[in-house]
Amino acid sequence: MRIGVLGAGAMADALATQWVRAGHEVRIGARTPAKAVALAERIGAATGGAVTGGGLREAAEFGEAVLLAVWYEGVQDVLRAAGPLAGRVLVDCVNPMEPPFERLKTAGGPSVARWIADATGARVVKAFSMCHESVWRMTPPTFGGRPLGVPLCGDDADALTVVRALVADLGCVPLDGGSLERAGLLEAATAFVVGLWVAGEDPATMLPPPEYAGGDPRRTSEPAG
Ligand SMILES: NC(=O)c1ccc[n+]([C@@H]2O[C@H](COP(=O)([O-])OP(=O)(O)OC[C@H]3O[C@@H](n4cnc5c(N)ncnc54)[C@H](OP(=O)(O)O)[C@@H]3O)[C@@H](O)[C@H]2O)c1
Repeated sequence: MRIGVLGAGAMADALATQWVRAGHEVRIGARTPAKAVALAERIGAATGGAVTGGGLREAAEFGEAVLLAVWYEGVQDVLRAAGPLAGRVLVDCVNPMEPPFERLKTAGGPSVARWIADATGARVVKAFSMCHESVWRMTPPTFGGRPLGVPLCGDDADALTVVRALVADLGCVPLDGGSLERAGLLEAATAFVVGLWVAGEDPATMLPPPEYAGGDPRRTSEPAG
C-alpha cells in the first residue's frame, strides 16, 4: 500500500519505519520538507525499503492511507497545506493534551478526530494515540506474552479495514472502539491514562479481565483460589 505521512517527528518516524519494514511504500511530508527528506533517508538506510520525503501536499496525494502525526496546534495549518482530503483514509493519532492532564485542549468542542472529519470530509480513523512512540518502535509490541491492543474509532468500514491491516503490520491487535463519535472518549481516556503513567502509577492494574465487566456480584465476591 502507499502511505502518506504528515509530520516528521517521533510518531512519523516510529510508524513509518514499521510500515516500510512491512513492505509498504511511504512518502513523508513536513512543513519543513528538508526534515521529511532527512527522516526518509534515515528510514531508507535502516530498512532498505521504499520511502521518500518532501512537502505535505505530495505526501497527502501519495497515500492510499494518510497518517496525521503533528502537534494539535499544527493540525489546522498542516491540513490546509495538505490540500483536499475528502473521501481519503486519514489516520489521526493526535493527542490534544498536556500536563497536568486535567482537561483536553479541545474541552467544550468536538474531538480532534471529529473536527478533522468535518473540516476535510476525510474518512478518519482515530488510532495509535494511546501509547508512547517508543512502544510503536517495538518489533512487535508484546507485554507479558500478549500483543498490544490498539483501539480504533471510525465510521467508514473500508477505512477501518485498511487501518486494521496497518495495526496488524506492527504485530498488534486492532480493538473495535466503535464510531468516530467515540473518538472523544478515546482522547479523554488517553489523557487520563497518560496522566497516571506520568504520576508513576500503572494503569494496566485498574482493568480486570473482561469476564468481570458485567458486575456479577457472585463472580466478583468469590474469594480467590
Ligand atoms: N510522542 C508520542 O509518544 C506520541 C504518542 C501518541 C500520539 N502522539 C501524537 O502524535 C503527534 C505527533 O507527536 P510527535 O511525538 O511525533 O511530535 P514531534 O516529534 O515533536 O513532531 C511533531 C511534528 O509536528 C509538527 N508540528 C508541530 N507544531 C506544528 C505546527 N504548529 N504547525 C505545523 N506542524 C507542526 C512538527 O513539525 P516541525 O518538525 O517542522 O516542527 C513535527 O513534524 C502529536 O499530536 C502527539 O500528541 C505522540
